[in-house]
Amino acid sequence: MPYASHSALEPAGLQAVHIERLWWVYFGISSVIFVLVLGALALALRRRRREMSAQDVQRKRHAVTFFTTATVVTLLVLLVMSILTGRAIASLSLDGAVTVEVSAHRWWWEFRYPVDQGATRFSTAYEMHIPVGRPIRIKLEAHDVIHSFWVPNLHGKRDMIPGKTSTLVLRADRPGAYEGQCAEFCGTQHANMRFLIIAESESDFRAWQERQLAPSVPPDEPQKQRGQTIFLQGTCATCHTIRGTHAFATVGPELTHVASRRRLAMGTLDNDIGHLGGWISDPQAIKPGVLMPATPLAPDDFQALLAYLRSLQ
Ligand code: CUA
Repeated sequence: MPYASHSALEPAGLQAVHIERLWWVYFGISSVIFVLVLGALALALRRRRREMSAQDVQRKRHAVTFFTTATVVTLLVLLVMSILTGRAIASLSLDGAVTVEVSAHRWWWEFRYPVDQGATRFSTAYEMHIPVGRPIRIKLEAHDVIHSFWVPNLHGKRDMIPGKTSTLVLRADRPGAYEGQCAEFCGTQHANMRFLIIAESESDFRAWQERQLAPSVPPDEPQKQRGQTIFLQGTCATCHTIRGTHAFATVGPELTHVASRRRLAMGTLDNDIGHLGGWISDPQAIKPGVLMPATPLAPDDFQALLAYLRSLQ
């Protein structure tokens, strides 16, 4: 599935379509106002040096009336635009909605899927899958500082304030891979705090959900088994979860199916063995300030760890 262009002017969902239309309305109104203001400025500059006559005094009075009227009209236009914006964003029914809980951390995204009325759930990072054509109820919370959830192809921005849960409803109307971005400055790696929404058919979404719900498969080869031991006994398990093992820490992203994701380090790196190796050996070189420490390992142990992590499909 190719990536959609990262633009609010190429909408792929209901609210995004409303937002795009509003954008053009705003653009039209702003353009007219811009031209009028420039015209008035040019006129004022031309008349500046003339002495004020009795006629000018009369004109000045008219001007005051004109600008008072213009201010009232502007306020009315802004009021109508605000109402239109509110209605555009709120106009989605929640029938058959899929719920996704989103947590923003410095600097990664966590997506939790409650399944069967919240009885079973799984969590993933970076990549959020949704079915096309169904409303998605997204519950947003920030873990540390203020972040902002933004997927321009699907919806406007929504700030995420620590201690406050907010909800956003969106719907993708055509399949695609839509890039999201944290839209509130949250520290050194704010620009690399990206995520991906993959909108797919109902059957593909169900299949993905089944795969994500399953725990990791125990490694079948000695090298991968050694890699798992290194993961569980070393520093990795103090921060990450891999379901199916006794690693259940939640400081960093869950890694149960990390090899199935398109990209690593919140979209910073391709998800292949070379980039994974570079990331694990020196994350600070790739994302300075990130909480993940470097993992110094003997070459054989390092290869074993990589082989194990790559097997987590
Ligand atoms: Cu999170 Cu910017």
